[in-house]
Amino acid sequence: MARRSALLLSAGVLGIVSWLLTSSFQLQTFVAPRPSTILRRGQTACHAIGTKTRELLFQPGQRVTLKGPPAMAGSQGIVVGPALGNAFAIQFDNGSIFHIETHNIEGAGTQAAAQIDFNAVRADLKNLMDDPNWDDGSYGPLLIRLAWHSSGTYSKYTNTGGSEGAAMRFVHGAEAKDPENAGLAHAIKYLQPIKDKYPLMSYSDMWILAAYVAIEHMGGPSIEFKPGRVDTPNEKGPEWDGPVIDGKASSRLPHAEYGLVEGFDRDKVLDSEGRILGWERLAQHMRDVFYRMGFNDREIVALMTGGHLWGRCHPEHSGYAGPWVEEMTKWSNEYAADMIEDPWRMVSHSDTWLDTIGAEELRPAPGKRQYVNKFPPAEGGSGLDDPNQMMLVADMVLLWDPAFRQTLEEYAVDDTGSDDNHALRRDFAAAYKKLTELGTRTLTACPFAH
Ligand code: HEM
Ligand SMILES: *[C@@H]1O[C@H](CO)[C@@H](O)[C@H](O)[C@H]1NC(C)=O
Repeated sequence: MARRSALLLSAGVLGIVSWLLTSSFQLQTFVAPRPSTILRRGQTACHAIGTKTRELLFQPGQRVTLKGPPAMAGSQGIVVGPALGNAFAIQFDNGSIFHIETHNIEGAGTQAAAQIDFNAVRADLKNLMDDPNWDDGSYGPLLIRLAWHSSGTYSKYTNTGGSEGAAMRFVHGAEAKDPENAGLAHAIKYLQPIKDKYPLMSYSDMWILAAYVAIEHMGGPSIEFKPGRVDTPNEKGPEWDGPVIDGKASSRLPHAEYGLVEGFDRDKVLDSEGRILGWERLAQHMRDVFYRMGFNDREIVALMTGGHLWGRCHPEHSGYAGPWVEEMTKWSNEYAADMIEDPWRMVSHSDTWLDTIGAEELRPAPGKRQYVNKFPPAEGGSGLDDPNQMMLVADMVLLWDPAFRQTLEEYAVDDTGSDDNHALRRDFAAAYKKLTELGTRTLTACPFAH
């Protein structure tokens, strides 16, 4: 807000200064303030000035010579990632990679200016997003998960990971092979034609913008986009310093059943309230993961509530099965509302009664446990028209942990009259933007297209 008014102010001051200059040199001519400095409703200062901003862009692979900073003058290297704005990743002949400010690169300013038309990228993304042949008719949910998983590796302790890099695009790299990322290759492939059409845009920017467009297109909040993420030239992703699982260090992404007791016998693994024993350790795991990124409890609930309303789990990706809410391609607060209102029951692969009542899409793969809001007729379920919904154990934790639950209850209230909640909309937009900008170093100060 402060920055925005500062921008507005400087745009205004510029207008006045140029008016003063012009009027003193050409006394007879009155120069009106430029119309682009006057904002329309809903427009940001950056909308107004964005299209006037031009930056010289170097192509990835291009060999460049540096004129500065002094210690590096004369060094040669290869551009390894496009960055709109003020810096490029340059790999030197000795292998080191540095972010070099554009004005330090020989030739800056002598070539024709290149520019990415982000409004055109947005339009292309939006046009391709709805696809009757994919899942529930939209690639949106998968794209929202891609941006989350490419950002969710950030660690504030080492300032590593995050959305910059996009190492997941290297199919043989560790990030692509992370079991937590199963299925995301579909999203990367789906975006490739748009990436090809805008070669100056980095993969890491493309993935984040695609998620913002998806959220907005499906009725969620608009998130202001800042370009400038730099792709890594090789498959080396963030360290695998997550908890040890089955004797091996895991990635930094959260695990849906971490810390729970093993077993599928409801009489043995559940407490009197139907919670899987050990759930407190899972709650701690979620805090460990999201605190490492710099989030607090409220932001965790906002991210989960605004994230797990889209799309579904796929037995062939994660082993879990089914959607969280009934309308999984439309923004709402249903996740929080249903979690609190519905009865939830643990199920595993052997719960074949789900198939019997026509809810086979909710039966997880062998070895997995999740919750569904259906009970078999013998336990009081009608078996008729209960909605088909699921929750991961990591979702249920928000209901069971008193601090998480407080925020969940707040978001569950429909205070808009349209299955929505003002605070959720605001908090999710802020938290998702924060998530997708974690660890970035070269974002432009001013978004070109919101
Ligand atoms: C503890 C944290 C989380 C865990 C354990 C978790 C786990 C999962 C799992 C297991 C799936 C199913 C993948 C599949 O089978 O295709 C999934 C899907 C999804 N997740 Fe999460 N998730 C977490 C947090 C988030 C957050 C913070 C967001 C976004 C803000 C998010 C967005 C999504 C979306 C949109 C899908 C659906 C993708 C599709 O329809 O293909 N998740 N998540
Ligand atoms: C690699 O080259 C760059 C540019 O000349 C230099 O600044 C950097 O210190 C070198 N790195 C190593 C490890 O020699």
